[in-house]
Amino acid sequence: MHIAVIGTGYVGLVTGTCFAEFGTSVTCVDVDADKIERLKRGEMPIYEPGLDQLVAKNTQAGRLHFTTDIKAAVEQSLVIFLAVGTPPREDGSADLSYIEGAARDVARHMNGYKVFVTKSTVPVGTGERLRRLVREHQTQFDFGIVSNPEFLREGAAIDDFMRPNRVVIGSRDEAAIAIMRDLYRPLYLIETPVVITSLEAAELTKYAANAFLATKISFINEIANLCDRIGCDVHDVARGIGMDNRIGRYFLHPGPGYGGSCFPKDTTALLSVAKEYGGEARIVEAVVEVNRLQRERMVEKIERLVGEVKGKTIAVLGLSFKPETDDMREAPSVDIVKALLERGARVKAYDPVAAEQARRVLPEVEYAEDEFGAVEGADALVFMTEWNQFRALDMQRVKELMRAPKVADLRNIYEPERMRKLGFDYTGVGR
Ligand SMILES: NC(=O)c1ccc[n+]([C@@H]2O[C@H](COP(=O)([O-])OP(=O)(O)OC[C@H]3O[C@@H](n4cnc5c(N)ncnc54)[C@H](O)[C@@H]3O)[C@@H](O)[C@H]2O)c1
Repeated sequence: MHIAVIGTGYVGLVTGTCFAEFGTSVTCVDVDADKIERLKRGEMPIYEPGLDQLVAKNTQAGRLHFTTDIKAAVEQSLVIFLAVGTPPREDGSADLSYIEGAARDVARHMNGYKVFVTKSTVPVGTGERLRRLVREHQTQFDFGIVSNPEFLREGAAIDDFMRPNRVVIGSRDEAAIAIMRDLYRPLYLIETPVVITSLEAAELTKYAANAFLATKISFINEIANLCDRIGCDVHDVARGIGMDNRIGRYFLHPGPGYGGSCFPKDTTALLSVAKEYGGEARIVEAVVEVNRLQRERMVEKIERLVGEVKGKTIAVLGLSFKPETDDMREAPSVDIVKALLERGARVKAYDPVAAEQARRVLPEVEYAEDEFGAVEGADALVFMTEWNQFRALDMQRVKELMRAPKVADLRNIYEPERMRKLGFDYTGVGR
């Protein structure tokens, strides 16, 4: 089977590459000619562990192609994945202009039956909306519409795609469902459940999944803030509740709040969906608000540690919204660092891979070559992202380099007792 993936970003590139790895013939399309040229040269536009080798392997095997020519890609493909961005608009709802633009382009170039698959995260009703849109531009050929939301995590995207917990396929087109089952057949070997639903249920599943995960994060952050007041350790509480299978132990790690390209926009988009259908989503509303406040709490925490930050040098380790990615979209670091800069602090930062992306959103920050360059002369050190390489730093050396041995560990990667023994004035989240 030949498929096309429209939009070669985090999701599109991983989707295309992994399907090629399964043996499918894949053409990845993007409007960004520079991105496509780089991919043809074997250069990755994003940082994702293992992706470069997999792209090289499948390109060499002749199963993976990159192009800006959407017409050729559509003509030779049976299934067309739409994996373009659905960024938030001012009012929090999802901007569908990219996905509609892509669907229109595909419709114009159809030369037979095609299956349109939304891989992008889209509001409930988008599939039916696309059906009408495609009909407007294409009256000659039949087509199917499928929602196949993607649950991969950046940083572990390949494994998540190749070994998913489940595959969700939403459609009312029987032929399209059969083709999708066929496409995902390689996963039958590892007995991946395939959940077949209506279009709308599949669309809502993605928002509900992200909103639920965001809820767990905001929930444990509230408990952590309470622990700070009580003087007990949130990790004890998280362990105590997480061993209950009904709760589960994942996503109970406190921190500066969720960020990234998905949870922030998908939670607010779900609020818009609820409003559009005349309902409400009060829990999700609270989750969004708690997350916003958590970033402010982190700034207050740093201020409590340092005193007035004006004129002080703050070292920040890690800037990406989570480890193993260079993605800076909605990273907590952006709001927290901006708040410190506004209050007159000087910020020196180091991130192993996200510095280039970070420079675009945080140009006032001084970027160091490594951890030790960042902490030199600093009045406080903030652990912002829990990159593995920060977990076992030579803290004795860090202390010697700093002007004052103060640490705000916003990811709780160090043991408070050990840090205090080393002579640090240490604060974590909820400990
Ligand atoms: N990033 C994630 O972890 C993740 C996980 C699951 C789902 N999603 C969803 O997947 C979608 C894509 O996210 P992403 O992070 O990959 O976005 P991205 O911004 O990294 O990539 C989108 C790509 O689409 C291209 N594009 C835009 N319009 C186009 C058009 N008309 N034709 C061809 N290419 C076009 C852009 O140039 C860009 O390269 C979003 O809806 C997102 O919510 C993302």
